[in-house]
Amino acid sequence: MKRDFLHITDFTADEIHETFSIAKEVKARFKRREKYKPFKDHSLAMVFTKESARTRISFETGFSRMGGHAIYLGPSDIAIGKREAVKDIARVIARYNDVIMARLFDHAHLLTMAEYSSVPVINGLTDYNHPCQIMADMLTILEHRGNFDDLKVVYVGDGNNIVHSWLKMAERIPLHFVCACPGDYTPDAKTFNDAKAAGISEVEISHDPKTAVKGADIVYTDVWASMGQKAEAEERKKRFEGFQVNDELMAATGKKSFFMHCLPAERGVETTDSVLESEASIIFDEAENRMHVQNAIMLKVCGKV
Ligand code: CP
Ligand code: NVA
Repeated sequence: MKRDFLHITDFTADEIHETFSIAKEVKARFKRREKYKPFKDHSLAMVFTKESARTRISFETGFSRMGGHAIYLGPSDIAIGKREAVKDIARVIARYNDVIMARLFDHAHLLTMAEYSSVPVINGLTDYNHPCQIMADMLTILEHRGNFDDLKVVYVGDGNNIVHSWLKMAERIPLHFVCACPGDYTPDAKTFNDAKAAGISEVEISHDPKTAVKGADIVYTDVWASMGQKAEAEERKKRFEGFQVNDELMAATGKKSFFMHCLPAERGVETTDSVLESEASIIFDEAENRMHVQNAIMLKVCGKV
């Protein structure tokens, strides 16, 4: 049975912990510049319909350093859903490659791709979720904190794809997760209810960021207008007033907290230069860990570990 990684819940809790251990081990090998080529003579197809810096660079660098060849396919190369049926192109790509990573608008396209591909498919972000990001975030938290005990993560901003992956993480690993967002920018109700019903974590929605961040170990934010929503950016700036993560909001945690952001950030909008550059900010460790955790995910779904 081939494995895909489309949602964090595609892995069990044990598999998530195992992925973090593999990521740490492979990260150490990379730091030592050790020769490690488990993907020799393998290829990875990277399909993008959206822009990217981190996802493209981290997958391509990680896979190449593990001995494989990564192929970048940009928005105009395949034109997913436009030039031919997703179920056709999925089967074609799978005939040439050992693993596929896709960043798409429509989550349904990703599900179809995984259904028809005979090789593992990894989600590099859709409008619905971004599982590799939250895996990297949790690895970063583990490195900085040493464990996930009594972990409180407060996300401040839009109830978007990042939040959906946090909610999926909450279905597997116990944590206290609060999404502080304006009333009409809440996450998907089913995803929220599933996380609540799983009974693993405490999950909440708040509309009051100042109260929500009290006691937070992590304050997390993301852009207010995601890719595909940039035309709404000005309107959203008005709707998200009071939801900026600034020094005052960071101080409202009442403890030494970390600041996280998946990046790219719009400086001066959802957060400030001062917070991004503060001691609390672990955004570049977070970005680096994208590569290490994705390497571990690829090793796992390709049956190399
Ligand atoms: N965080 C993240 O996925 O960044 P990119 O959009 O640059 O890939
Ligand atoms: N929510 C953002 C995340 C970017 C990594 C977007 O979808 O554009």
